[in-house]
Amino acid sequence: MFELKNKRIAFFGAVGYLGTPIIWKMAELGADLFLADFNKELAVKTAREMSEKFPGQKFEASKVDVGDYASIAGCFKEIKNTFGSLDVMVSGIHAANDRTVEEFTPELMNKSLSVNLTGSFLLARHSAELMPKGGSIVIFSSMYGQVSPDPSIYYKPMKANPIDYGIAKAGLNQMIRYLAVHWGPKNIRVNGVSPGPFPNPANYVGSEDFIERLNKKVPLGRVGKRDEMAGSVIYLASDESSFTNGHIINVDGGWTAW
Ligand SMILES: NC(=O)c1ccc[n+]([C@@H]2O[C@H](COP(=O)([O-])OP(=O)(O)OC[C@H]3O[C@@H](n4cnc5c(N)ncnc54)[C@H](O)[C@@H]3O)[C@@H](O)[C@H]2O)c1
Repeated sequence: MFELKNKRIAFFGAVGYLGTPIIWKMAELGADLFLADFNKELAVKTAREMSEKFPGQKFEASKVDVGDYASIAGCFKEIKNTFGSLDVMVSGIHAANDRTVEEFTPELMNKSLSVNLTGSFLLARHSAELMPKGGSIVIFSSMYGQVSPDPSIYYKPMKANPIDYGIAKAGLNQMIRYLAVHWGPKNIRVNGVSPGPFPNPANYVGSEDFIERLNKKVPLGRVGKRDEMAGSVIYLASDESSFTNGHIINVDGGWTAW
């Protein structure tokens, strides 16, 4: 059912661990893609590889820093020059400080929220300006926007997932609902996905016991595989979700269900 032919999609945080399998699936389903990421080199390389594999479609890439609002505005200028208008915007960016509650300074908290919350808000607003006939906005939230990390699974020197991350994700959940209502009359749908544990193996070499503790917290008994996010994001990006608005899909193996 899902097809993305002629959909012009801007994906922020495109070449990250979870973004990568999604953008490739989107390309396979016929989308034109603008890949925006901190990691310009990988985004440009990926766009080039996609152009070779799917010659009839358009792929562009650019560096963006979602913590720098001028950089966001510059990136949307490029998107406008490339596509004219947009059908879909996905944001899979995140920022967090590896600090405990006691270690946090106001500056660190503000910096993090300025990327995750204000930056994401600006991504959504710039996107809406490029969606005169409506569109779909998909924001990556997290299970930690709904529930607190269980401190008992983080053994020293590991620290529990930091508070700024969860505060921002909870804020994004409300932003999704607010914007879904605000832009509903313009046929701009705003939804989210809320991943559970998808540990990137590159970050957990030697921490197999931690993965085991994560497995035990998931009703399905295991952590997520990176390509298990594509279905929900593509559903929300495609016309199959044309009446889904203001919704956040949990893709967490049931983590938040008990
Ligand atoms: N992996 C998980 O277990 C998990 C769980 C819950 C939620 N999430 C959410 O899913 C999304 C993707 O996570 P991931 O695991 O793929 O992370 P990742 O770090 O692998 O990917 C994030 C991508 O965003 C880019 N990025 C980060 N900050 C940016 C900024 N300020 N400006 C521009 N680009 C920026 C990075 O370069 C990277 O390519 C994030 O929003 C994250 O919070 C992930």
